[in-house]
Amino acid sequence: MNAPTARAARTEYVCSDCGVTAPKWQGRCDGCGAWNTLGEGMAVVGTAPRQRPSRPVGRALTLDRIGDGADQVRPSGITELDRVLGGGVVAGSLILLGGDPGIGKSTLALQLAARVGVAGAPSLYCAGEESAQQVAMRAERLGCRLASVAVLAETDLEAVVAAVVTTRPPLAVVDSVQTLSASEAAGAPGSPAQVREAVTRLLGVAKETGVPIVLVGHVTKEGAIAGPRTLEHMVDVVLYLEGERHGEHRLLRGVKNRFGSTGELGLFSMEASGLRQLDAPGRAFLDETSLGVPGNVLTVACEGTRPLVVEIQALVAPTPFGLPRRTSSGFDLGRLQLLIAVLEKRAKVRLNQADVFLNVVGGVRLADPGVDLAVAMAVAGAARDLCFSARAVVVGEVGLAGEVRRASRLEARLGEAEALGQTAAVVPASSRKPSPAGLRLHRVATVAAALDLLSEG
Ligand SMILES: Nc1ncnc2c1ncn2[C@@H]1O[C@H](COP(=O)(O)OP(=O)(O)OP(=O)(O)O)[C@@H](O)[C@H]1O
Ligand SMILES: [Mg+2]
Repeated sequence: MNAPTARAARTEYVCSDCGVTAPKWQGRCDGCGAWNTLGEGMAVVGTAPRQRPSRPVGRALTLDRIGDGADQVRPSGITELDRVLGGGVVAGSLILLGGDPGIGKSTLALQLAARVGVAGAPSLYCAGEESAQQVAMRAERLGCRLASVAVLAETDLEAVVAAVVTTRPPLAVVDSVQTLSASEAAGAPGSPAQVREAVTRLLGVAKETGVPIVLVGHVTKEGAIAGPRTLEHMVDVVLYLEGERHGEHRLLRGVKNRFGSTGELGLFSMEASGLRQLDAPGRAFLDETSLGVPGNVLTVACEGTRPLVVEIQALVAPTPFGLPRRTSSGFDLGRLQLLIAVLEKRAKVRLNQADVFLNVVGGVRLADPGVDLAVAMAVAGAARDLCFSARAVVVGEVGLAGEVRRASRLEARLGEAEALGQTAAVVPASSRKPSPAGLRLHRVATVAAALDLLSEG
């Protein structure tokens, strides 16, 4: 706990960006160098510097005398979440969970809290956006063990800290970090200085008490977690819950993890009883009715370590006038434009007077370059009105020279395709892997060679 702060008599000016104070107004902040962040209107009555309790001098230990901490990892039992976390919740870790409004952040956080807590030692759920009754209603709908979660409807940072320090729950959730108000920082709750103060304080509490803390965070229009840019550096784990809000699937992506690999994907479906994990996604991301149409191609993406069979759909239509449009959902637009240029230059597919629309079925966002060739074949197939076999998958990265490059974890991808009953695969010629029993492999060295495999439906 902090020593109580005494109010100083004089007025100070506080930087809204970093919280550093100045005795009088100045254009540039001494702390972060930002201009015009100390406005006259931001003048607040200053507080005396925090009195730090005297501490013993820290003693360093050689690594062999420090345990590896394996016993501090606590699996939550939600395997899709544990996979992204790197095995489970690590004691004393600070986990940031971001996602679009209404995507299911509070649902996931509550389900996790209920799994980790037990009657007698419940998890602590600090609700800043909802009342305790609303959280209880959701918990009932989700079928949570109600005695395993204690709810605190509170937005004051010090009250949240006090609750964590005194009760030492097995897990604490702060929903959301943008609603916390820190009396020691300037600005309204949710402002960069407030969020930074709240996260710094909770980081200290997590490390001191060993209580893992999940911070639910809002995202900005650009998709980044709202708050100071340094926020993601301060926490141990950053997770994003993605998906189409009105769709059924939700994907939990680990973008930073100090205790496990990043890029891992957890798959869930949103149901009335909460998020249900999809251990074996299988054909969940396929739309059987649309296969066999020009522009539809199956691929096996590898997000993290998991192979996932997904369907890519492209539509190419003449540009009515002016500049051709290119839109993409679930795939990077810049990468799509690059592939369109490769198709134009290296495979003579005319697209300069055509609108190109690309969609990855099921709301999956693909960051894996191993799906490049499938995207190129989908666009070329749509442009030329040619089909590709619904029983085949396409895997390979595409280079600027139109060459097809090796994709990572090809064996795992082909294994998944075979398990789902596919009979053929287009793969890079450079890969020398033997073909799995049930798959006929077409090895291609260039995009142009791959397009020869398209045929009239
Ligand atoms: N009765 C219900 N049946 C099925 N799904 C529901 C039901 N109630 C809510 N949901 C789902 O839960 C989602 C809201 O979940 P949740 O409140 O956890 O989202 P959130 O990310 O915390 O939202 P916010 O950003 O507003 O805090 C809804 O979009 C809906 O998909
Ligand atoms: Mg919420």
